[in-house]
Amino acid sequence: MKLFPLEFSLRLRLAMMFAAASSAMLGGIGVYLADSLYRSMIARDVEEMAGKVELVRNVIAKAATPESLKRDSHLLDQALVGHPHLHLSVESLGGVVYASSPLQIPAELRGNVFRHDQVPWRVERWTSPQGATYHFVMAEYRDRAGANRATITVAADFSEEMETLRTFRRNVIAGGAVGIVLSAILGWFIAGRGLAPLRSMADAVRQITVSRLDQRIDLAHVPAELRELAGSFNQMLAHLEEAFRRLSDFSSDLAHEMRTPVNTLLVQSQVALSKSRSPETYREILESGVEELERLSAMISDMLFLAQAEDARAALKKEPIELAPEFERIAEFYGLAAEERGISVESAGNAIVMADRLMLERALGNLLSNALRHAAPDSVVRLTAESSAGQVVVGVRNTGDRIPPDELGRVFDRFYRADKSRQRASGGTGLGLAIVQSIMELHGGTVRVESSEERGTVFSLLFPVAATARSR
Ligand SMILES: Nc1ncnc2c1ncn2[C@@H]1O[C@H](COP(=O)(O)OP(=O)(O)OP(=O)(O)O)[C@@H](O)[C@H]1O
Ligand SMILES: [Mg+2]
Repeated sequence: MKLFPLEFSLRLRLAMMFAAASSAMLGGIGVYLADSLYRSMIARDVEEMAGKVELVRNVIAKAATPESLKRDSHLLDQALVGHPHLHLSVESLGGVVYASSPLQIPAELRGNVFRHDQVPWRVERWTSPQGATYHFVMAEYRDRAGANRATITVAADFSEEMETLRTFRRNVIAGGAVGIVLSAILGWFIAGRGLAPLRSMADAVRQITVSRLDQRIDLAHVPAELRELAGSFNQMLAHLEEAFRRLSDFSSDLAHEMRTPVNTLLVQSQVALSKSRSPETYREILESGVEELERLSAMISDMLFLAQAEDARAALKKEPIELAPEFERIAEFYGLAAEERGISVESAGNAIVMADRLMLERALGNLLSNALRHAAPDSVVRLTAESSAGQVVVGVRNTGDRIPPDELGRVFDRFYRADKSRQRASGGTGLGLAIVQSIMELHGGTVRVESSEERGTVFSLLFPVAATARSR
């Protein structure tokens, strides 16, 4: 269960909790004070009355008979000197022997009479029909032989003390109420101060715009409780900044890549239109235009593929695929291109992977076309498959152009081409390996590259253990 509705601000919540805590505290103190005041008043009464009972017991003991006590009633009067609020009465079997005032304690309340050997240690309370409150004790007197008995009653008007107590309670409640209101107001201001760092953090966040993604929240000026939040926020900013940078790099690369073929087409067409030409010339110009357009079209569909790869995970149609027949098919497809350069394609090994067939073919095709393009003339390009430690590794190896070590990490970047001078001649757009990488990501795998002078260049596709295990 929620303590506060969601629309309550943190500040309001804190102020309310502050007020609740202080009201509990003030209430506790008030109850404690009122109670201890009451107790101390009663203790004083008990002491006074017990003293009187002892005194009266002594006076009675000295008197020979109830009659002589009646005669010597001034002795009892003396016991009350200086205590005008006290009432004293003594009764024996024969009736009332002495009464300082006409006060009558009702018979049903007279139950608790302290024995002769007891010093009264407790008072009873009685409220008269007139509304006055009395405290009283009753105690027994008995002589040694047990022949003479009497009951001593000492009572005191407690009304004034009750009034004092009532006033005290009222004051405590009023003071407490004022205290609660004050503490709520105080809590409101304290909470406002306490939450100030949150506001300044919000201000700092508001300063961050797309053009200022490099800004961070300064952790040194953030209290410990908010540091984790600010840290995560900074991390998110770093990710955003990186993603944003890549996106803008990518779009400028894209514009750059499209400008060249579009410019070529434009200039060609303008030149063609500048004067009238023979149908053969138009045909030639159109043919070269088509080539350029084909390249553009291929690039655009590659771009679309990459853009959709993120959403493609759900649409992936995975099935168990045997690699050896796959190698054969693809080697045959690229056979002509290989033959032209005197290159032979050999395949070795076999395994089964869980993959989307079209995507697997596309990845292998991209790797093989790269290998054929960069292989030394009259060399061998090898396709290999092996399963080890539950993972399947597919390798495409060629000898020839080596990728410089410092560029190995970048060949998977979009539009990246190691040899800029050859890019037009070789006709690549630099998207092939980026596509291979995103296909492997879709399959939960990775792609690796190694390149050295002696061993040539090898690209390895690593399919994960789970994907292969499910195929069994
Ligand atoms: N087998 C290889 N040997 C040497 N260099 C390679 C090899 N494969 C790729 N590269 C380098 O990596 C770069 C990027 O390859 P990628 O396949 O992404 O683009 P591309 O082949 O130039 O163009 P695309 O494949 O889009 O037609 C290539 O331009 C080339 O410089
Ligand atoms: Mg390529």
